[in-house]
Amino acid sequence: MRLQDKVAFISGAASGIGRVAAALFAKEGAAVILADRDAAAGHRAVEEIAKSGGNVAFVQCDVTNPQSVEAAIQQTVARYGRLTVLYNNAGGSLPGTKTVTEASDADFWAEINLNLYGTWLGCRYGIRALVQSGGGSVINTSSAVAMSGALSDNHAYVAAKGGVSALTRSLACRYGRDKVRVNAIVPGVTKTERVTERVKGPLPTALVDRHLLGFGDPGCVAATALFLASDESASITGHNLAVDSGYTIS
Ligand SMILES: NC(=O)c1ccc[n+]([C@@H]2O[C@H](COP(=O)([O-])OP(=O)(O)OC[C@H]3O[C@@H](n4cnc5c(N)ncnc54)[C@H](O)[C@@H]3O)[C@@H](O)[C@H]2O)c1
Repeated sequence: MRLQDKVAFISGAASGIGRVAAALFAKEGAAVILADRDAAAGHRAVEEIAKSGGNVAFVQCDVTNPQSVEAAIQQTVARYGRLTVLYNNAGGSLPGTKTVTEASDADFWAEINLNLYGTWLGCRYGIRALVQSGGGSVINTSSAVAMSGALSDNHAYVAAKGGVSALTRSLACRYGRDKVRVNAIVPGVTKTERVTERVKGPLPTALVDRHLLGFGDPGCVAATALFLASDESASITGHNLAVDSGYTIS
């Protein structure tokens, strides 16, 4: 199994990409903490994954709250004795696209809070635990909006994900000496329930055409996370890995 003896913490694991990744990580032998602010959905996900024999548990966690993230990481280490994979997945653009000239301060901070500060807090508490565990892998979640100027006019979300990509490179440089690898996945439009709802109806031709292989599948992002979590990627750090159906190169 590809994640034998790994202990993984996945934020935003109650649904979408995080939920698929949690099931995959467990199938590959990891002990997995599913962290999410949605307790009902989180418990449902854990029950389903445990039915297939996965070693999983749910921890309620709001990634925008430092006490909550610190407690969730502590609970992970208390339960499994260490942390070796930190997957900062929770996030997403908030409904209602607003440009820099339209967005209020509240709109700006809401996107930054969830997508950049949430990742920041995951790294603050998670990397401490990884270092204490002798090293491991951090997987951050950026977006193709950070790599291409044309994908989104939700500028606060763009800024937040750009921050995640830059932070990933910088943390990789600083924590390599502690045997902590830090990479980010850069998805294009990926058909989770939330996004499938949003991309209903007529879409800009360029958005559709530049996803050369069609819109992405959550399983493909989860499989990339599995690779980055495993020792197969032992020499890969500081990388922003596009899983975007060719969007950013087209
Ligand atoms: N789906 C896409 O098209 C796409 C594209 C690019 C990047 N991404 C990124 O991938 C990640 C996952 O996206 P998804 O489509 O699976 O999202 P999703 O909405 O399906 O799932 C997100 C999960 O995060 C949880 N969550 C939200 N706020 C939280 C908080 N404050 N604390 C803890 N949990 C919280 C939600 O309850 C939910 O379970 C996000 O970071 C998103 O920005 C997604």
